Amino acid sequence: MREFSDIISKWYSQNKRDLPWRRTRDPFKIWLSEIILQQTRVAQGLKYYLNFVSEFETVNDLAKSKEEKVLKLWQGLGYYSRARNLHFTANYISKELNGEFPKHFKGLLELKGVGLYTAAAIASFCYDEKVAVLDGNVFRVLSRVFGIDQPINSSLGEKIFRELSTELLPSSEVSNYNQGIMEFGALQCIPKSPNCEPCPLNSRCDALRTKRVKELPVKLKKTKVAEWHMSFLVLISGRGTVLRKRVGKGIWQNLYEFPSFVASSAEDSKNDLSLFISEASVDVNSLEFVSAIYRHLLSHRKIHAQFFVYRVEEIPSLLKSETVVFEDLLGLPIHRLIEKFISDSPSFFKLEGKS
Ligand code: ADE
Repeated sequence: MREFSDIISKWYSQNKRDLPWRRTRDPFKIWLSEIILQQTRVAQGLKYYLNFVSEFETVNDLAKSKEEKVLKLWQGLGYYSRARNLHFTANYISKELNGEFPKHFKGLLELKGVGLYTAAAIASFCYDEKVAVLDGNVFRVLSRVFGIDQPINSSLGEKIFRELSTELLPSSEVSNYNQGIMEFGALQCIPKSPNCEPCPLNSRCDALRTKRVKELPVKLKKTKVAEWHMSFLVLISGRGTVLRKRVGKGIWQNLYEFPSFVASSAEDSKNDLSLFISEASVDVNSLEFVSAIYRHLLSHRKIHAQFFVYRVEEIPSLLKSETVVFEDLLGLPIHRLIEKFISDSPSFFKLEGKS
């Protein structure tokens, strides 16, 4: 279907949004934009991208930065392992590859945090390499135009879409075509109620012909997300509080938070917090405030959190080394839930007018 790629490329040249990462072929900037856009939509990702590139002009600049600074710039996007991989990979490219990105899909795929999609995006957008990008937008466009009802997240579906997307690649200007099909999915062949009337593919679209636009693409339901109940211990003494860095693998790694207690029920997590309070010799009479329950949804976890604020004479010795003064609170990389609580309760941290 030669015409398919021609139609997409032509549509793209007439309809594409003017975005800063489309004005460059610098693999550093393309990589950065793609990692950010895996995490968020264009409207929100734009400011993160601009902040990053104004802070770091090259991959070497990013490599030289402290991880904490990278996490701080990433703050609010979630999925912080992406930010850590970004920093790790910048270091690898800077030190092991002399600051040069690999020039081919295969080499790019070796980089940490760079999967099939990102490697294909960089290789085609920067170097016009003939590899297909396959993201949610592309799945949607192909499933509808070609009437494929195989689930996009099944292994057979993945194989079918991968083969088809490769067959459809034009012999030149792959960059425009790949960005075009993604943009087409983002603007024209949108998930809900697309307006098919002005669509340049409407006479060739199987889903439109068979009235299955609403049903395609097919996606298998994922298993239920795990539920976490968390209690956070907020200790306040003078102008200081206790924040600790989360270590180990898992969510929010290397981000700061109030000491937390996770369990599979609210009851259990509160009990763990109480146990800790007595072990750390926190003055149990100093409970000042108990927050409402915060519900926080991550891609693979549903969190119910509650904050217990204690105002104490002195931070217990066990926690002294983790004391942070209020002035430094917002400068540390903290995760979204902590940020929410702090911004809901600025008076505890004497932050009115500062956040
Ligand atoms: N989503 C993922 N990559 C994108 C890009 N390069 N432009 C617009 N949206 C995107």
